Amino acid sequence: MKIIRVSSYEELSRKAAELIAAQIILKPDCVLGLATGSTPIGTYRNLVQKYRQGELDFSEVTTFNLDEYLDLTPDHPQSYRYFMNSNLFSQVNLRSERTHVPDGCAQDPAAYGAEYDQAIRDHGGIDLQLLGIGNNGHIAFNEPCDRFVPETHVVELKESTIEANKRFFNSVEEVPTKAITLGIASIMQAKKVLLIADGKGKKDAVEKSFFGPVCPEVPASVLQLHPDLTVICNVD
Ligand code: PGA
Repeated sequence: MKIIRVSSYEELSRKAAELIAAQIILKPDCVLGLATGSTPIGTYRNLVQKYRQGELDFSEVTTFNLDEYLDLTPDHPQSYRYFMNSNLFSQVNLRSERTHVPDGCAQDPAAYGAEYDQAIRDHGGIDLQLLGIGNNGHIAFNEPCDRFVPETHVVELKESTIEANKRFFNSVEEVPTKAITLGIASIMQAKKVLLIADGKGKKDAVEKSFFGPVCPEVPASVLQLHPDLTVICNVD
């Protein structure tokens, strides 16, 4: 595990984008695992800038996103598909058919989850997985729990997550209470993992995850077992 401590959000975003850019340059047809939330926005902005400056070509890149709210259509402004389209996909030369975000409106989410995991395997697995971290130590929507759930699955969001995400909605009642998320095994199978944490509010989650015991009550702690984990944090 490599922990890079930085002192600003700008530095965090620049360093994260540099690592992702290096992955794309080294393997132009790589598979990126992508995340939503406020933290990656600066990373995506830096990647878009690199693309505009002619430093990056996304034409052969494939992407898989971590999660999606259940029952939000792709055109809903708070859906993660919409977020990705606005913040990255529409800004670079990624081919839309190579971008994957779980379908929150799938008729049978359990069967759909298995198909999503299979699609990742069919593409040779994720080369680099970008992750944020929740204040409660969640990764993707793998909430604190009494066991690690390996595969892509539907989750009930914790009150703390609904509370943290209500800032994006008009009211707390509008925040979906369920989501579909990549599971822990799907995340751990990525060849490289890059986790970004920004703000003092994440300090406790970072400490528990990377300096405490590995346990499902702190989902990100499982990453201590990953052979190629980089954490970039601005939490002091
Ligand atoms: P944030 O969310 O980037 O909006 O803080 C991270 C997460 O909940 O995984």
